[in-house]
Amino acid sequence: MPSALFSPIKLADLTIPNRIVVSPMCQYSANDGVGNDWHMTHLGMLANSGAGLLVLEATHVERHGRITHGCLGIYSDDCEGALRRIVLHCKRIGTAKMGIQLAHAGRKASSQRPWEGAKALGPKEDPWPTIAPSALPFGPGWHTPRAMNEEDMARVRDDFVDSAKRAVRVGFDAIELHLAHGYLLHSFVSPLSNKRNDEYGGSLAGRMRYPLEVAGAVRAALPAGMPLGARITGTDWLDGGLTGDDAAEFAKALKQAGLDYVDISSGNITYESRAPSDPGYNVPIAEKVRRESGIAVRVVGMIENPKQAEAIIAEGRADMVALARGFLDDPHWGWHAAQMLGADVARPVQYARAAPTLWPGAALRG
Ligand SMILES: Cc1cc2nc3c(=O)[nH]c(=O)nc-3n(C[C@H](O)[C@H](O)[C@H](O)COP(=O)(O)O)c2cc1C
Repeated sequence: MPSALFSPIKLADLTIPNRIVVSPMCQYSANDGVGNDWHMTHLGMLANSGAGLLVLEATHVERHGRITHGCLGIYSDDCEGALRRIVLHCKRIGTAKMGIQLAHAGRKASSQRPWEGAKALGPKEDPWPTIAPSALPFGPGWHTPRAMNEEDMARVRDDFVDSAKRAVRVGFDAIELHLAHGYLLHSFVSPLSNKRNDEYGGSLAGRMRYPLEVAGAVRAALPAGMPLGARITGTDWLDGGLTGDDAAEFAKALKQAGLDYVDISSGNITYESRAPSDPGYNVPIAEKVRRESGIAVRVVGMIENPKQAEAIIAEGRADMVALARGFLDDPHWGWHAAQMLGADVARPVQYARAAPTLWPGAALRG
């Protein structure tokens, strides 16, 4: 039986050689939004990981939309120039298609890097004002955001559109909107963070309205065959929060807005909302969303073993799998998965002699 995980998938006009995706991972290492040698090295390595698609970390559409002082941006010519060098480098030396996650941190902006404490920036740490659907902080000790008015909403929507145009110019193969993890657009959808009483709040239809407007505006600005996806939340893991039923409704609406796939993640809408850590914890919701919406579905979360990943695809529970920490631990995860599943995977010629067909040592690896 040929491997399902290593079969190609077509998203809009883009054919991706296998179903393995490097999940977006913030590196908190940019200088005022501008990528540098760290990104060149980190992404250059992951472009040769065996994954069919490598999605860049949350890349912010405005300066105040960054999570931390170190987050990547795509809001200036300097940001765009650095991303162009990084993407050209990855494409020249690597085998993966390149995607980018466009994001706005909303009420979780202006915070410390994880290794500095991951809390809201203090008064001496150059904090900045934050915005959100409602003036509710993420948790105790967090900044109280300003509730967005119509002008803010139009500006941020246009920032997403401008950033998508920059991403096309940079040479990305796919674009993904960050609608999860408690950041701005997720905080519009969740009833725990959106308490608006205008047409952008209330029912699920009202709460989805702004993210759908952003998604529609980005879709309209992109070339027709360019894949556009979104990472959404499968569940908020909190009473009164979003559920799998809401995720399926949202996925249907995103499909209607012209999106090509959704990625199912979960959690982080408030400081106390944490995802579980059991293997493939998002898979049951991904399967439901796929069945009920008909859009292509990627799933992430504690998918570490190649046989586990193969089963998710072969059993039709999702169309793609994404791994984050697994790729930090083993930047050649895709090569090792191919070996275990008896599949072929692209490698750079310089490393061809480490392929299992040429190197008996590969069979000795534990
Ligand atoms: C270092 C690190 C940075 C992350 N940054 C992002 C990010 O920029 N955007 C995002 O959607 N998720 C981000 N995540 C979440 C991962 O993409 C992924 O959803 C999560 O780690 C669960 O997958 P895993 O079990 O394979 O690690 C990050 C995770 C890690 C470990």
